[in-house]
Amino acid sequence: MKKDKLLELFNSLTLEEKIGQLVQLNPDFLNESDTVHTGPISSIGIKEEMIPYTGSILNSVNAKQIKTIQKEYIEKSRHKIPLLFMADIINGYKTVFPIPLALGCSYDFKLVKETAQISAKEAAVSGIHVTFSPMVDMVHDARWGRVMESYSEDVYLNNQYAEAMVTGYQGTNDPHNNIASCVKHFAGYGGAQSGRDYNTVELSKRTLLEEYLPAYHSAIKAGCKMVMTSFNTIDRIPVTANKWLLRNILRNEWNFKGVTISDHSAIKELINHGIARDEKEAAQKALEAGCDIDMMTACYANNLSRLVKEKKLDISYINDAAFRVLELKNDLGLFENPYRGADEDDEKKYILAPEFRSKAREAVEKSCVLLENNGILPLNSNKKIALIGPYGNSKELCGMWSFTVDKDNVITVKEGIEKYSNNVQYCTGSQILDDYQVVKELNSLFGQEFKNQELVDESLELKCAKEYAKDADVVIMALGEHSYQSGEAASRTDLSIPKPQMNLFKEIVKLKKPIVSLIFSGRPLILNEIKKYSDAVLQCWFPGIEGGNGIANILYGKVNPSARLSISFPYHVGQCPISYNFLNTGRPNTKENIGNRFVSKYIDAPNLPLYGFGYGLSYSQFEYSKVSLSSKKMSMDTVIEASVIVENKSEYEGVETVQMYINDVVSSVSRPVKELKGIKKITLKPYEKKKVDFIITNEMLKFYRCDMKYDSEAGKFIVYIGHDSLTNNEECFELIK
Ligand code: BGC
Ligand code: BGC
Repeated sequence: MKKDKLLELFNSLTLEEKIGQLVQLNPDFLNESDTVHTGPISSIGIKEEMIPYTGSILNSVNAKQIKTIQKEYIEKSRHKIPLLFMADIINGYKTVFPIPLALGCSYDFKLVKETAQISAKEAAVSGIHVTFSPMVDMVHDARWGRVMESYSEDVYLNNQYAEAMVTGYQGTNDPHNNIASCVKHFAGYGGAQSGRDYNTVELSKRTLLEEYLPAYHSAIKAGCKMVMTSFNTIDRIPVTANKWLLRNILRNEWNFKGVTISDHSAIKELINHGIARDEKEAAQKALEAGCDIDMMTACYANNLSRLVKEKKLDISYINDAAFRVLELKNDLGLFENPYRGADEDDEKKYILAPEFRSKAREAVEKSCVLLENNGILPLNSNKKIALIGPYGNSKELCGMWSFTVDKDNVITVKEGIEKYSNNVQYCTGSQILDDYQVVKELNSLFGQEFKNQELVDESLELKCAKEYAKDADVVIMALGEHSYQSGEAASRTDLSIPKPQMNLFKEIVKLKKPIVSLIFSGRPLILNEIKKYSDAVLQCWFPGIEGGNGIANILYGKVNPSARLSISFPYHVGQCPISYNFLNTGRPNTKENIGNRFVSKYIDAPNLPLYGFGYGLSYSQFEYSKVSLSSKKMSMDTVIEASVIVENKSEYEGVETVQMYINDVVSSVSRPVKELKGIKKITLKPYEKKKVDFIITNEMLKFYRCDMKYDSEAGKFIVYIGHDSLTNNEECFELIK
């Protein structure tokens, strides 16, 4: 529709119809609106007469349902403005990929973009218009269950992944292939104090600008059409009512023209935050601050028109926000075709297409991180295997957000391994958990029965596990946290593998058989004992529907693992939050300071994580030459080329992710000890050598100086190039201004 037509339509709307565009409800409301008024309507207390004006729908997820709702809605509506359908398509629709944090470990932006393209295709033909993804919150705290939805603890990686996901989803805005992307949760949600979900965030402005905001900005620069506000406060003001973030930064500085939406119920929650007396005041504060759509509360629907009539709210706030929603609908082509890509035949044709599944398998192969290997891997297929543990034959491999998956399509580890070996004995060995309260709670929230099959006879299982282990050449232990132990509202203070599984592990260790541990989790777990007693450890995350195939391909050496940690694995939960890019402090815990009590350290644990950022093994052995620089001096209009020679010293062809970090030695504010500034992936044949070079630019050296200008400062810099964030392969240069 042309803009003047759109304006004409907009001007023909009543105030209530405009407000309706700012209301998002789930499909139950529309089903219910002509029938009994219990359930959803009474649960949020929305005025019944506002329901037919609702502008968008949350989490309706198949072509038939969406087409039916859309058709009935348009037939009944006076203005005939189609509904927008938005959903959480996080790591895939039916072709479920590894969780985002796992994809973050691929360091492969092209692959990640391809996963978003496939998700978009499947979602588009199923009638979805917008996905609430990517989530690009900076994460430093493994206690926070939502680390699984983010990509990494690093600014550079988060920027790249944000761009890859947004461009992957949105493509050329083709109705049959692309959907709109809503980046979330703007902003700083990952900084929740103590790793407790929804908790207060306290960040300096400098840290917020320098570390937390860039990834959202990258998403917007990549054309992201929507932004979701976060639950937390920034500077003690909840983001959903934070003008500085939503207007000054997002609209004025970043020039964002799209639609903003609150997180679920967040506008009403302004009352609990203690910044609004009631829903009316909450509605006013949120809209004035710049939150366009109210997700799942009655605040806007019940109060905005009253606020205008009482002359407390300028109508232009409603007009601007509602017009943006219409522009988005127009941009997505809904006025020409309200069903957009929704097509049951296309659902059959494209969903789970073989090439999508093979991309999902590739994603598993590139995101499982090999943490330990004493040479036991890759396995020889004539080895007799005991596969033990609750994840050995589990289809719960998709993580908490994959509510659209059909679990029948999931390939288990057992199924994957059996493609290589007909000598596998499997048993569960133990339950996942000793206490199923977390599972029961969510089950009842979703109206599901608790599945008793999660409970097993543990003494029988243990007996069987020991027998199989004794009889085997290699024991593969498939252990981890329950998929409901990570994701939203899944903060933990104890990051160990649940007790029944650790008991099982210790019993098997006593048999002194070679052990390969496979770890399934949505966050870094504490793996000290697993590391100590395993011959190999593979961090498998929640790998998605092709999990079993991808993992088996790594175990048997069809694929050489190449993934690297994009988040630190703490040695002890007491180290959280932890990340590689910390500040030095006045009393750093350096080698020279060993034995000195009065330095910044724990007296009962190391400062360093068990496995650091960037770490990950391969079956190949890579060796680095010293860093060489094209010049030791850099001026404002020159660049420096930094290079190393990397050599594969093994029989295995492999992929190495070469990482460049920079440290600004002296500047007007304290700077991180290292910051990732670039990566290069290279494939090396056995004993092959390659030169890898990076260009260092002035842009890479910029930061928020003490005068808050974003710029570089003259002086000495150290550049590191190596295998991971612990590398001390360094060289220095000077920036002259
Ligand atoms: C989550 C969001 C999600 C939304 C809609 C909220 O509870 O925080 O990440 O997109 O629900 O389902
Ligand atoms: C302590 C101070 C103390 C000072 C002088 C420092 O190490 O941090 O609290 O007053 O020494 O003894």
